[in-house]
Amino acid sequence: MCGIVGYTGPQRAAPILVGGLRRLEYRGYDSAGLATVEEDRLILRKRAGRVRALEELVEEQPAPGGAGISHTRWATHGPASDRNAHPHLGGRGGEWRVAVVHNGVIENHSALRRELESQGFAFASQTDTEVIAHLIARELESTTDLFEAVRRILQRLEGTYGLGVVAPEHPGEIIGARFGSPLVVGLGEGEHFLASDPVAIAPHTARVAYLQDGEVVRLTPDHFEMRHLEHGPITPRIDRLDWKPDAVELGGHAHYMIKEIFEQPETVVDACRGRLRRGEATAVFGGLNLTDRQLRRIRRIVFAACGTSWHAALVGEYLIERLAHLPVEVEYASEFRYRNAPMDDRTLVFVLSQSGETADTLGALREARRRGHLTLAIVNTVGSSIARESEGGIYLHAGPEVGVASTKAFSAQVAVLAMLALYLGRLRHLSFPDGLAVVEAIDSAPALIGEALQSEPEVERAADRIAGVRNALYLGRDIHFPVALEGALKLKEISYIHAEGYPTAEMKHGPIALVDRETPCIFVAPRGSLHAKTLSNVEEVRARHGMVLAVGTRGDSTLAERADIFLPIPEAPEVIQPLLAVVPLQLLAYHVALRRGCDIDKPRNLAKSVTVE
Ligand code: M6R
Repeated sequence: MCGIVGYTGPQRAAPILVGGLRRLEYRGYDSAGLATVEEDRLILRKRAGRVRALEELVEEQPAPGGAGISHTRWATHGPASDRNAHPHLGGRGGEWRVAVVHNGVIENHSALRRELESQGFAFASQTDTEVIAHLIARELESTTDLFEAVRRILQRLEGTYGLGVVAPEHPGEIIGARFGSPLVVGLGEGEHFLASDPVAIAPHTARVAYLQDGEVVRLTPDHFEMRHLEHGPITPRIDRLDWKPDAVELGGHAHYMIKEIFEQPETVVDACRGRLRRGEATAVFGGLNLTDRQLRRIRRIVFAACGTSWHAALVGEYLIERLAHLPVEVEYASEFRYRNAPMDDRTLVFVLSQSGETADTLGALREARRRGHLTLAIVNTVGSSIARESEGGIYLHAGPEVGVASTKAFSAQVAVLAMLALYLGRLRHLSFPDGLAVVEAIDSAPALIGEALQSEPEVERAADRIAGVRNALYLGRDIHFPVALEGALKLKEISYIHAEGYPTAEMKHGPIALVDRETPCIFVAPRGSLHAKTLSNVEEVRARHGMVLAVGTRGDSTLAERADIFLPIPEAPEVIQPLLAVVPLQLLAYHVALRRGCDIDKPRNLAKSVTVE
């Protein structure tokens, strides 16, 4: 949550900072601000509201200077206001010695604030961040080295931080520091960038160095150096972003969400690339770091995740039970990390995360490792905290996902889980022909997702019908139950319509009381093993004059005749049906939100990656 961008080099910093913030706005969008340094002058511009408001301010009151830091905020301490917007300034008696942007939470900020107030530091905001600025300013009274001043005060902070710091007495210099909140350096020609997410700087450079916890970096246009707080100087590892050039651009789409929905055929191709082995009827993964013998010893799998990743894990549970006959439990990461869940040494833990920075999922990973369990990650963001701290895992290769509502990451996760189920199955009892059928099914998924996307016109008509409703029920059985949950999450997070997902048959144990003409019941019901039972559940809703929307197999006239609105997807083997059935639900949420005038890529109160507990 929140985004940081910094720049030092020969260009004007402000336009680069604002451009970076625009790409990061999905991480928080309550307020935005920047500070630049020109010669020995500190220039501050900040405003509550979107990055656009900051841009207007900078147009009215330019911020010259070739070095600067900037921030887009998701409020934790103090509401969104001009005062609480970052950067925050540090100094005494109106002499501003430093400007700071911060992601994370400083837990001991109250005690630090009292200490600083007693020494004459006046506070202008309600944020926890302002203490950092004053602490650095105080150090700068006794050292002329900005890097050293930051290094010293970090020892006083309890909590998490990703920091960017500039000071008027140190033009051209930016200090960054990381503990629990991501930070990356971008390396250009005679210029350097700092960001909380490489998305912000990707158009400028593909060469990056990720900071690890406890590391501090000093950037000037020509030089950068890194130190670990305890271990001293370090040689940074330089990575390359292998994103497609248009990965973080809208490319003619109105929103990132719809762009990413339509990218899904390609996403699944990328997730599967090089991993399916037709000759052995299995899948292979380069980074699991476990031998087949070790994997055969596993007796149980635990998945820990949040939100959409949790829904994908539920699909994985059905697939692994079906193909590999292994018991699987899916846990909310936020619950798992604090429970006394009994687990033995033959339990394998997987955490799933698109961002790789979700605080609860990272907490679950650390707790599982602390208890001595083998802990792997299924993660999208290369170099993220979760990717680095796990013992191995599987990358999704979905490219950057910018829309706050996760779509293509879900598909990549489901594709990876289907391959994992196949692999684990083939290590056990799954026969060659059955394995080959799964390989062929997964192979066919991208083209079939492409066909499912063609249902957009029907979905738009459905959106016209339901855009005004207050509640919606999503219902699915077996492998489609998690798809129902995912459909409900998509609708509620971007259109603010109350929506719940249930296993279809569970409806009559309570939720059916909500059924009336105004509450759509959205059945996820492609043809499959439990289809006949689902048809009976549809009848139960019809008997109560409920409105039925059904996602079903094209040509399924029995279902279509019973539905007020029928959303067809292509015929497909059951193992890949979730990849197809989710498509009309994603499109439905999008088009409903559009009709309700919602801010689709920046839904109310949300942020893309949830880096606080
Ligand atoms: O980055 P992660 O996959 O760890 O994120 C987990 C959830 O925060 C995320 O899926 C969230 O629920 C999305 N807004 C769903 O669209």
